[in-house]
Parts: sequence; structure tokens; C-alpha cells
Amino acid sequence: MQKITKAVFPVAGLGTRFLPATKASPKEMISIVDKPLIQYAVEEAIAAGIQEMIFITGRNKRAIEDHFDKAYEMEAELEARGKSETLEVLRSIVPKNISCIYIRQPEALGLGHAVLCARPVVGDQPFAVLLADDLIEGINPVMQQMTRLYEQQGCSILGVQNIKPEETIHYGIVKCEAKEKKLHSVTRIVEKPRPENAPSTLGVVGRYILTSKIFEHLEQTKSGAGGEIQLTDAIASLLQEEQVLAYEFTGTRYDCGTKLGYLMATIALGCKHPEVGKDFVDYLNARGYHEPSDH
Ligand code: UTP
Repeated sequence: MQKITKAVFPVAGLGTRFLPATKASPKEMISIVDKPLIQYAVEEAIAAGIQEMIFITGRNKRAIEDHFDKAYEMEAELEARGKSETLEVLRSIVPKNISCIYIRQPEALGLGHAVLCARPVVGDQPFAVLLADDLIEGINPVMQQMTRLYEQQGCSILGVQNIKPEETIHYGIVKCEAKEKKLHSVTRIVEKPRPENAPSTLGVVGRYILTSKIFEHLEQTKSGAGGEIQLTDAIASLLQEEQVLAYEFTGTRYDCGTKLGYLMATIALGCKHPEVGKDFVDYLNARGYHEPSDH
């Protein structure tokens, strides 16, 4: 069984739901407390043993490259001021054994098209896809749960979550046959169905492990929902020739591509932050708010 060593981060979307914040800076650089969303996603991939990070970037995404690049001037300045702890925070953003590769998606033609842009670097290996705006907190990082599953199953795996019936229009929805407790065999997948047409309430969230066969299907995929080349449609086609599994991961997901999800994540992670968490909880309690319950 091939190990998953590459992760693709599609970060070329327009982020219109978060305007005006995303007019000139990428949605994935929005911070939850003190870390941008993209760094949470990269850390999750690193925890899963992945070493090659492939970012699919677009216009206005320079900040992402800068974030993972060495900051010579800032490092020199911190060194001169003897700020060794802060210097360590800066240097540990990308551990030495991790490589970052940037590919430009010339036009935001959809998530499927963004993933297809990674083909020259991924080649014929299975790979992970992480959407940074889905921030998932778990005791075991979700991508680590999924790569372990891949090592047993050897096929594409979609991270799924039970969603409210009225929310199906925001997700790829799967129809499944039960396999094990949290693992299902996908028989059908539909992009953004209306609740009355949805085959279930299991929605795909931003974590995937895909075999390289997906590229052949993406090549053939025409634009679908919203006029975009949808990854969901390519997965529907992949299903005709390979097994695809849906995995109900353990963890709490925040949809940080929306304002409400972002605020929820800020409160949850703020309360647990090693530096300010306690004071933040005291602040919330004093105002009658309560610390979010743990998952
Ligand atoms: P979203 O559906 O969240 O779209 O994309 P978006 O454009 O980022 O945000 P809204 O809907 O306008 O607010 C899901 C993921 O796919 C990436 C996005 O960056 C996000 O991580 N994506 C989407 C691309 O990389 N390229 C695309 O053409 C579309």
C-alpha cells in the first residue's frame, strides 16, 4: 500500500462569503486567535505524516506563500532583540523536512479544476486534499484518522458529517451502504441537492483522500453546479470504477468560510488557547456566556 505523502490545499477560491475581508487578502489567511486557517490545515497534514504540501493558488494569494516562506528580516530583528521564544514560533511554521509547492490556478473554475491543477506534482500517487476553511478540531487530527484508514482500505475516502436536512444545498451529499460503524461504502454522490432530492444527510466536508484515478475523471468533468468544475461530479464518475468510502470522522468542524462558523471557531479555540484561554473564559463567564462544551 502506498503511503500518503502529498497534500493538496486548494486556496484559489474567491471567498465571496467573507467579503469585504477577502477583497485583497485570501480567506485562508484569516486567523483564528493567532494562527491563519491555512496553518491549522498544514499542521493537520504534518500530524498525518505528510511531507509535501501543494498549494493551488490564485490572484491575491501571495500572502500564503509569504507565510510559509522564511522571514529573514523579521528573524534577524527578533534575534537582535533576544526574543528567542517568538523566533521559535516563527521558525516552527514549517518544519525543515516539509516542502511547499505552489501551483497557480489561472481562473477560479471550481474545486475540481483546482485539484486537477495538482496533477503534474501528484503524479500517480494517492493524495490528501484539505480545505483550510473547514477547521476541524479533534483529539486525533482528522487527516491522521483518514490516512490510517487508507492504510487499511487502500481506496478513496471522503470525510463526511451528519448535517441538518435543510443544509444539503451547501454540500456534496452521499448515499451509502453501511460497512463498519463510522465507515460507509458510497453508492451515489450529488452536489448541493435540495433537501427533498438529497439521498441522505451525510455531507462531504473539506477532507479527502483520493487515488490518482480521480485526475482521469476530472479531465472529463464538465462544469456543473454553479457553473464550476465540481470535485463531487468527478467522484461520482470515479465511483463507477473504484470503491469510494465515506468516513464519519471524530472531531468538531467549524465552517470558517462563513462568518458564523468563523465566530464559533474563535470562541472555541480562544477558550482553549494556552496564553489567553483562561482570561477569555473568565471574560465570557463574567458576561453570562459559557465556555463551549467539549466534543
Ligand atoms: P468554496 O466553495 O468555499 O468557494 O471553495 P470560495 O470561492 O473559496 O468561497 P465563496 O463560496 O465564494 O465564499 C472550497 C475550496 O475550494 C477552493 C477554495 O479556495 C476553498 O478552499 N477553490 C474553489 C479553489 O481553489 N478554486 C476554485 O476555483 C474554487
